[in-house]
Amino acid sequence: MFSIFKRLPPVQTILAIVFLFLQTGCALYLPYLMAGMVDQGIMAGDFGFIWKQGGTMLGIAALSLTGALLNMYIAGRIAFRLGKELREEIFTKVLSFSKTEYDRFGTSVLITRNTSDVTQVQTVVEMFFKFLILSPIYLIGGICLTWKLNPALALPFAAVVPFMALAAAVIYRFAVPLYGKMQSLLDRLNLLFREGITGVRVIRAFAREEVDYEKYRTTNRDYTGTAIAAGTIMSVFVPLITLIISLAALAIVWIGGNSTAGGNMDVGAIMAALSYSAQILMGFGLLTNVLLILPRGQVSARRIREVLDTPLSLQDPLQPEPAGAVSLSFIGVSFSYPGAAKPALSDISFTVGKGQTLAIAGGTGDGKSTLLSLIPRFYDVQSGSIRIGGTDVRSMVQNDLRKLVSYTPQKSALLAGTVRSNLLLAKPGAGDEELWAVLEDACAAEFIRELPEGLDSPVEKGGANFSGGQRQRLCIARTIIKEADIYLFDDSFSALDFKTDAAVRGSLKRRLEDKIVVLVAQRAGTTANADCIAVLDKGVLAGLGTHNELLKNSPVYREIIRSQGYEEEAA
Ligand SMILES: Nc1ncnc2c1ncn2[C@@H]1O[C@H](COP(=O)(O)OP(=O)(O)O)[C@@H](O)[C@H]1O
Ligand SMILES: [Mg+2]
Repeated sequence: MFSIFKRLPPVQTILAIVFLFLQTGCALYLPYLMAGMVDQGIMAGDFGFIWKQGGTMLGIAALSLTGALLNMYIAGRIAFRLGKELREEIFTKVLSFSKTEYDRFGTSVLITRNTSDVTQVQTVVEMFFKFLILSPIYLIGGICLTWKLNPALALPFAAVVPFMALAAAVIYRFAVPLYGKMQSLLDRLNLLFREGITGVRVIRAFAREEVDYEKYRTTNRDYTGTAIAAGTIMSVFVPLITLIISLAALAIVWIGGNSTAGGNMDVGAIMAALSYSAQILMGFGLLTNVLLILPRGQVSARRIREVLDTPLSLQDPLQPEPAGAVSLSFIGVSFSYPGAAKPALSDISFTVGKGQTLAIAGGTGDGKSTLLSLIPRFYDVQSGSIRIGGTDVRSMVQNDLRKLVSYTPQKSALLAGTVRSNLLLAKPGAGDEELWAVLEDACAAEFIRELPEGLDSPVEKGGANFSGGQRQRLCIARTIIKEADIYLFDDSFSALDFKTDAAVRGSLKRRLEDKIVVLVAQRAGTTANADCIAVLDKGVLAGLGTHNELLKNSPVYREIIRSQGYEEEAA
């Protein structure tokens, strides 16, 4: 939280505090003036003095109001400006994240940090300037001015102070952590709820509703319990303080009444002291409010810091080396996901030359997607190196590397927009003719042509309005329209029927004739046509060679082909 306060503009911050002092100072001074008016004006029947004093009071009241307005305006401005800056900073930071950092946070967490956490911090900063400073001023100022009017009347207040300090301490020590805990439980509830919604089909498919519901119910119960505990503390102490301050007011009236009867006390002073008791009570109320939102702000500030302070795992080299994509080599590459027990890839070596196609075969979870994602440096290898044209990918400027590589992820990732906007992402400025040609090559032209709006047909988020095979074809089109040297396809043909698969492979061969192609393939037909096949088995390279070579000497490959052949016959 402190580091957040350091970001505030100093001049405006000081102005906000100055205006706050003006507001509270004037508000405190008013009862004091009123005491004078009553005692010296009304009691003495001095109308001139009443007018004069009344005028002064009006002026002071106006000043207090001005102070309040300016304080609120500036505090609001500071807070919203801070929110805006934080959001921009988080956004810029997140854009520079690599997949390692995305995996660490997850998209929805990043969204929460950028929205509700920032709002929370914003609120705390605003409240801080409006209220937190206010209550001590009311407390100390009220006591001092009462003392000045009549020391005897200040005694009940002095007696109240230890109780208030005690209550504030108890609230801070016991209730505040509970509110902090409530915040994290609420986060967890949100997470479970989100998982429940997004994964609802999977959850149903595995009949896991009961388990998930139980998790949600436990967390919800925890949350409710904590909220009740926190509420109990508050509902004991807040009325207690109100009671104590009311008792103090009663004591003031009693002391005042006694001494007035004795003839040495002024009615005005008693009235002023009563006003102060009301102000002190209000100050205390505001203080507890701020104390309660403070932990939430702290949690949020910490979470924002977490994002902003994340060191980027990928850094551009200071002196980038130029790269020509004449070959792609893996040299003794090993890689583990952060926190994983076993490496996803161990000691992988191979080279693919210009104009060649490398197929990667293997079972689910054997590391095919991981291998592919290392090439555009979504992750960095832990040992060994990946070289393009002899240059380590880590010594290239990330932007240059991304220009060299065109990649289709396993999960077809279409963006909301139109067919055209999705394709233009890969090649801005491409004309209709080029777009149709590429759709033709990806066997996607036919079904796009049937849509009434053609190239401008809408695409929903994730391509939800297309079938799996159509999505894959659009993704292939988007990958091949980009002018790159290396093309990576992660299982991009799995949802295509055999005829389409063969047709797409044919056009890819033509189109990417002098490029480097690496594709994850599930089907024997695809691997058989590749120049070279890398067989992965639990992250280890279990074979490298042509279809015929591998059939002869790789039992793992034979097994894959056998199961594929079986599938092909069945299909
Ligand atoms: N983002 C990730 N974080 C942690 N582990 C992962 C991640 N992605 C994949 N893995 C693990 O790495 C291994 C290889 O996965 P993957 O490369 O996706 O296999 P394939 O594409 O061959 O099915 C699996 O054991 C998988 O659980
Ligand atoms: Mg995969």
